[in-house]
Amino acid sequence: MAKIEVDLSAIPEGKNIILKWRGKPVFIRHRTAAEIEEANAVKIESLRDPQTDADRVKKPEWLVMLGICTHLGCVPIGEAGDFGGWFCPCHGSHYDISGRIRRGPAPLNLEIPEYEFPEEGRLVIG
Ligand code: FES
Repeated sequence: MAKIEVDLSAIPEGKNIILKWRGKPVFIRHRTAAEIEEANAVKIESLRDPQTDADRVKKPEWLVMLGICTHLGCVPIGEAGDFGGWFCPCHGSHYDISGRIRRGPAPLNLEIPEYEFPEEGRLVIG
């Protein structure tokens, strides 16, 4: 199936879910106000793959990304690592609450898939 639809009302603030889309894991996090603030407070010039948080989200409270480490493709663990986001246990890559690589061997931020919000509370990936 090319697209998947997600009912966002089922994901409480501060929680992650993992879906499968085209055989790949997709991470969705309902971010808190504090997490959004943290994501925006990062100095872009300090990043290996410089992207603002706004470059990575369509709505600040919803972070949607592929759950595939950009190093060698393992699936990172949520709510883990030293930067408040995801941690890849395969070789120790730490991603922040915007999914940006902050430490470890991964070269790039977690990838953002195509998605849209056709109406309030609904997300379509693909
Ligand atoms: Fe994630 Fe190597 S595959 S750190």
